[in-house]
Amino acid sequence: MSRALGVCYYPEHWPEEDWEGDARRMVETGLRWVRIGEFAWSKIEPNPDSFAWDWLDRAIDVLGTAGLDVILGTPTATPPRWMLDRHPDMLAHDANGRPRRFGSRRHYCFSHVGYRGECQRIARLLGKRYGQNPFVKAWQIDNEYGCHDTTISYSPAARDAFRAWCRDRYGSVDALNKAWGNVFWSMDYRDFDDIDLPNLTVTEPNPAHAMAFRRFTSDQVIAFNQVQVRELRAQTDRPLLHNYMGRVTDFDHYDVGTDLDIATWDSYPIGFLMDRLGASPDHRKTFMRQGDPDFQAFHHDLYRSVGRGRWWIIEQQPGPVNWAAWNPAPLAGMARLWAWEAFAHGAEAVCYFRWRQAPFGQEQHHSGLLRADGAPAPALGEAEQVAQEIAAASDAAAGPADVALVFDYPSQWAWETQPQGRDFDYFELIFSFYRGLRRLGLNVDIVSGDAPMSGRKLVIAPGMATMGQDFLGALGAFEGQALLGPRTNARTAEMSLPVPLPPNLPGLDARVARLESLPPFASEPVAAGGSIERWFETLEGTADVPFTTEAGQPVALRAGGVTYLAGWPDDTLLDRILQDACSLAGITPDPVPAPLRQRKSATHRYLFNYSAASVSWRGTKVPAAGVLREKL
Ligand code: GAL
Repeated sequence: MSRALGVCYYPEHWPEEDWEGDARRMVETGLRWVRIGEFAWSKIEPNPDSFAWDWLDRAIDVLGTAGLDVILGTPTATPPRWMLDRHPDMLAHDANGRPRRFGSRRHYCFSHVGYRGECQRIARLLGKRYGQNPFVKAWQIDNEYGCHDTTISYSPAARDAFRAWCRDRYGSVDALNKAWGNVFWSMDYRDFDDIDLPNLTVTEPNPAHAMAFRRFTSDQVIAFNQVQVRELRAQTDRPLLHNYMGRVTDFDHYDVGTDLDIATWDSYPIGFLMDRLGASPDHRKTFMRQGDPDFQAFHHDLYRSVGRGRWWIIEQQPGPVNWAAWNPAPLAGMARLWAWEAFAHGAEAVCYFRWRQAPFGQEQHHSGLLRADGAPAPALGEAEQVAQEIAAASDAAAGPADVALVFDYPSQWAWETQPQGRDFDYFELIFSFYRGLRRLGLNVDIVSGDAPMSGRKLVIAPGMATMGQDFLGALGAFEGQALLGPRTNARTAEMSLPVPLPPNLPGLDARVARLESLPPFASEPVAAGGSIERWFETLEGTADVPFTTEAGQPVALRAGGVTYLAGWPDDTLLDRILQDACSLAGITPDPVPAPLRQRKSATHRYLFNYSAASVSWRGTKVPAAGVLREKL
């Protein structure tokens, strides 16, 4: 398994005389990859159609000559100020219809045809100039699609593109009216040009309209990315990648991933814990210097699938970041632990963000491997240690996991569109199942709804809003156990309620006769332990009933290998359900003590201690913030 470390570097931020020394120190630290260029448009093209390539030529040369492999970014996340003079209407609009402004980054609308053309132009020029450069070994397209809430745009460009998308999808406006159920509240259209975007409506828009807009929005990201993919592929055979984020679900990452060679993601464990997880104060306190112990692993397992096996971390938090509500420093050891955890989940590379802390701009308080004065920051030594360790360690990658957990982006959009209960969040639902599987010490593959099921012992797909014929066919033929529900196959692709009533699963006589969402102060106790919270469905049918409430109401129905779950389980109930599913599937759980997390490769067991105290397990001590790697 090839494993390497790298770093993100901004030569344009530093005097040229520093580049050589920086490159030498990177190599001495044991780094192989250096990512550059992704925000440098105003330095490459200071005035429209007038270019300054020399500095970039030299930067690539200095870095490459020092022995580093360069990842060159296309700078399309940061259009220069002059771009707005050329395309004054290229800005994305927020839900209130206000254009966003110049002065930070990602100030573009994915649907703007003129801006897409500019991206095509700069990608072509970069590809021509560096596509065959021996030091440029990979390309990153744009930077973090969706960052700063920039996927969804309500601009005139998006509206025009949405109308065209609807024309294409529905063919006639009558078909659209029918598909969306526009007879409800007299919402019928007479022409595609009557259709607006689903913002600023008096009360909630038609969910079919909102869902179509979410599908369209995702398609725009895919199409935007493809423009640059095409240009670069024509000039280079080096791998193309994009850097995704944690818990960003506004576009279908599997679809973008199909056009690229490697999925990479930007892992900021402490920032995410503070800002993105909805964690309780207690949870934040326990893990404030480590990050949530499952959040990184979840994304490693997700992006491994998005990259069809090939994935990296291209930005790894090295110390405190600047952008979360609070920005604590990691425990000594975490910059090493996070990197090792990624490698254990199959990462080919981990690159720290960034080399030297910047003394200007928005991220002055964001640490790097070096301080702003060039002295080593604490993570530098940890990176050096990891570099030595990975050079010495060899083990075989894990094969496909017995358990596949489906994460389906359209389901996130569907349940954001009509949650029916404030806290019905699809990501949280899937993440809670993931945590439950980790409590059992299992390797998990997170997969799309199109992934083949054969070879798995257990497939889990709660909350998957719509199951296409392919999925249902695969389920019918699947020989393992399937755990589905709540809210699985509950809507048609056009966001209406199917009749016959859901879930309509092969071989399972079950119907959701009624559903209710539960407020946080209510729950439904389940016989023999645990309870249902947030969501509960009344099931009818003749299938077996493996779990009931204390009052005797079915909590699940089962026939053959298919189990349908009627509600959102708390952790106690979830543990019972997962243990039951594992035992039916012939999977033996291998739990480790709670502060530890486990991942197995084909040849090794890795234990990660996400706590601030050492943990002894089976006679071995795993130090605080430490990693234990042992042969299986
Ligand atoms: C990422 C981004 C980087 C940098 C970093 C700071 O979201 O890609 O450019 O801003 O966050 O943590």
